[in-house]
Amino acid sequence: MDKWTRTTAGLATAAAGLLLTTASVVFVSSDASAGTPAHGDSAAVAPGAASYGRAAPSGTTLRALARKAGIRVGTAVNSDALAGEAPYAQKVADEFSSVTPENVMKWDTVEPARGTYDFTQADQLVAFAKAHGQLVRGHNLLWHNQLPSWLTSGDFSAAELRDILHQHITAEVAHFKGEIWQWDVVNEAFNDDGTLRDDLWLDKLGPGYVADAFRWAHAADPKAVLFINDYNIEGVNAKSTALYDLVKGLRAEGVPVQGVGIQGHLDVKYPAPHDIADNMARFDALGVQTAITEADVRMTLPADATDVEAQDEAYQTLLQGCLLTRHCTDFTVWGFTDKYSWVPGVFTGEGQANIFDENYRPKSAYTALGQDLRLAGGR
Ligand code: XIL
Repeated sequence: MDKWTRTTAGLATAAAGLLLTTASVVFVSSDASAGTPAHGDSAAVAPGAASYGRAAPSGTTLRALARKAGIRVGTAVNSDALAGEAPYAQKVADEFSSVTPENVMKWDTVEPARGTYDFTQADQLVAFAKAHGQLVRGHNLLWHNQLPSWLTSGDFSAAELRDILHQHITAEVAHFKGEIWQWDVVNEAFNDDGTLRDDLWLDKLGPGYVADAFRWAHAADPKAVLFINDYNIEGVNAKSTALYDLVKGLRAEGVPVQGVGIQGHLDVKYPAPHDIADNMARFDALGVQTAITEADVRMTLPADATDVEAQDEAYQTLLQGCLLTRHCTDFTVWGFTDKYSWVPGVFTGEGQANIFDENYRPKSAYTALGQDLRLAGGR
């Protein structure tokens, strides 16, 4: 959506929102995005379908502001917290218009034994999303991490491994056919120097595995938008350039790569990627969608006020990159509360990377993002 369309949609939505404020309890779906791309947030809530978010979301939630700005705002969801903690589920419902399973669509969860699938937790998240007018980012089909041991220690031939990958992608995408908005088909395929990561897939199958994965996913659900997703590709650098070249080449060959996901795992000790809009513009020119898919901004603890300011700025840099890019569809945070962040477990001594604190209180980064969305949506 371009700036003009965004503004027009924003005004239409704002008008619809004004009408809706008089109906305080029943939230009528006001899909002001008629005629705009499918990613516009309809904010529809099925009457009686859900225990959370049945009242009209406040006009200042991130999802309401994002809707006016013409994008979705999403969060990674921890399935245990969603099932077990009401305040967590309430925030997911109120603040976000798309969700990404943090772990439960990954290979080790969905196919723990060869040919045996378990979609229980992922199905629960898809049902939650449906009940709350949210779209689902499927994450992910092919990665080097969180693979089951039967796969990593199986010592399969190239032909067997290719067949296993084909079966896995087909089974998972077919299971969720029609339910997934965007799939992260290939995750973290590159090294920082722009070479392909030397993992099980490259090692056994060669670089052609990337095209195969996209073709198989497309065959199983032709309507899902298929993404390649990676980290350290926010700015223009060797890795993002290699990814750009790959996507360009694949599209020239007719491979259905339709989106580029920029993870956005940042750390306040490095400069924020101020050239993100330039980087995203070149992907935009290729005709693919883009999204910020896993934003969080970590810091060494204990943090001081300068760290917090740098965090606000880094979050804003990522969001602004999306808002300035015509076909950027969504901005997703990798978890929203410090209570369940993956950061302390992986980056020793670091934390406080999210936009709500451990008690679900919004932090200054939350306010900063809201301000940018407000600007983009014409307030
Ligand atoms: C992380 C999850 O947040 C953790 O809970 C899990 O233990 C490991 O994976 N890039 C990705 C995500 O694409 O899937 C990762 O998620 C974070 C880095």
